[in-house]
Amino acid sequence: MEPEGWPGHIWLEGRTSVHLKDHQMRPSHMPRGPAAKTGEGFLNPAMAPARTRSVMLLADAIENNWLVPEEKIIRVLDALCATGVRPRRWRKEVPRQDRLRITANDLDSDALSWGMKSHETHPLNDGIHWIPEPSRFEAKPKDSVKDGIQWINGDAKKLMVEAPFQWIDLDPFGSPVSFLDTAIQSISRIGVLEVTATDTAALCGSAKTSASRRYGSVGITDAYMHDDATRILLGVIARIAAMHDKSMHPILSLFDGHHVRVSVLLRKSKEVASNWNEHIGYRIRSSPYHFASQPSGEFSGPMWTGPLFDCDIAGRMTVERAIQLCAGKEEDYPDDWTDYDIEHSKREIERSVRHISDSAELLSGKHLLVPIDSLGIAAGIGQIPSMKKLKAGLEDRGFKMAQCHMPEPMFATDADWDTVIDVAKSAK
Ligand SMILES: C[S@@+](CC[C@H](N)C(=O)[O-])C[C@H]1O[C@@H](n2cnc3c(N)ncnc32)[C@H](O)[C@@H]1O
Repeated sequence: MEPEGWPGHIWLEGRTSVHLKDHQMRPSHMPRGPAAKTGEGFLNPAMAPARTRSVMLLADAIENNWLVPEEKIIRVLDALCATGVRPRRWRKEVPRQDRLRITANDLDSDALSWGMKSHETHPLNDGIHWIPEPSRFEAKPKDSVKDGIQWINGDAKKLMVEAPFQWIDLDPFGSPVSFLDTAIQSISRIGVLEVTATDTAALCGSAKTSASRRYGSVGITDAYMHDDATRILLGVIARIAAMHDKSMHPILSLFDGHHVRVSVLLRKSKEVASNWNEHIGYRIRSSPYHFASQPSGEFSGPMWTGPLFDCDIAGRMTVERAIQLCAGKEEDYPDDWTDYDIEHSKREIERSVRHISDSAELLSGKHLLVPIDSLGIAAGIGQIPSMKKLKAGLEDRGFKMAQCHMPEPMFATDADWDTVIDVAKSAK
């Protein structure tokens, strides 16, 4: 039976053909904001950059063997996949499909059947087929693998209890907190957890009671609120991981448009997990801030105060790699696509990784984050020098500087605040 509204109209996300419902507007390229603003329906086009980065990370794990030894299989789960765009993109765009076992799960049977129908309509025909392993509670698995994706219509928590995975994606409506514990337990001895949180009012500190309930945190709605939001979510993941004897290592942690997205490596190790709070603390506002293990003065937190990126992995997330893996090719373009569509979708892929590889070294170590707007006020200068001039000024003095993938113009540097102010005053 065809899903209601099928086939809708076809759009290309990355290299993958997706079907939008007829009432869902053709996405403007580079959409931003929550689904309601970018075209309602099952698919939120504003999440395309997060899905592109997910494809790139999985491809990187396979290519560089940092998750499992060479030639071993990776079991990947999109626990809340809706219409299955992410698992379909993993399936189409990640090389070495023989090393993947992709499972797509959602509670909503309409969304799932839309995803299955889309997958069936755009087959890969590369001969990939596999038999799912029996779950922890069922002797005989259901063979629901279709063209390399296992589709499951069920509760993500039940599925994650039943089977172990090495890669789990959690992309719920709002807060991910209710899924974290089960997902972290489901992850094998070593695995990747990717988490989206759209409850930014809580994470950024404007919804104080939700922040306290869900994350046990307090926030300050200033220029650092987006970095705080990312770090508060990481702090909660580190805490829950430690409860299960697992340590957390951030790979890529971003605030992108209207959501927080973190990808972390979890590793079973009682010893390392015992020191989980080594990187937990508070951001104390003090010209402009420092991290401390105890709150004092004006503070936000508790939060993760350690690195946000893995230097090597994030360092390889270049524009060239994004284009190579995820930009549409001649054979992918929908019939009605114009040169304009092609050019803009390429730009969207580029935007997905903008500033990531350049800032990888700084964001994987100790750094100072500087919001350009606050810098003008702090330095008492009317006109803030361009990023280029600030970078040149800091590099002349032997420091590193890189613009960050943030909603507002911000840069990271290993210089101290006084040096940054000095450079801002002298750079013309
Ligand atoms: C924000 S959407 C997911 C979007 C999707 N990841 C994408 O990239 O298009 C959240 C999804 O979670 C599903 N959901 C909510 N609770 C669930 C649960 N307990 N188990 C499985 N799916 C659930 C909803 O049906 C919805 O499709």
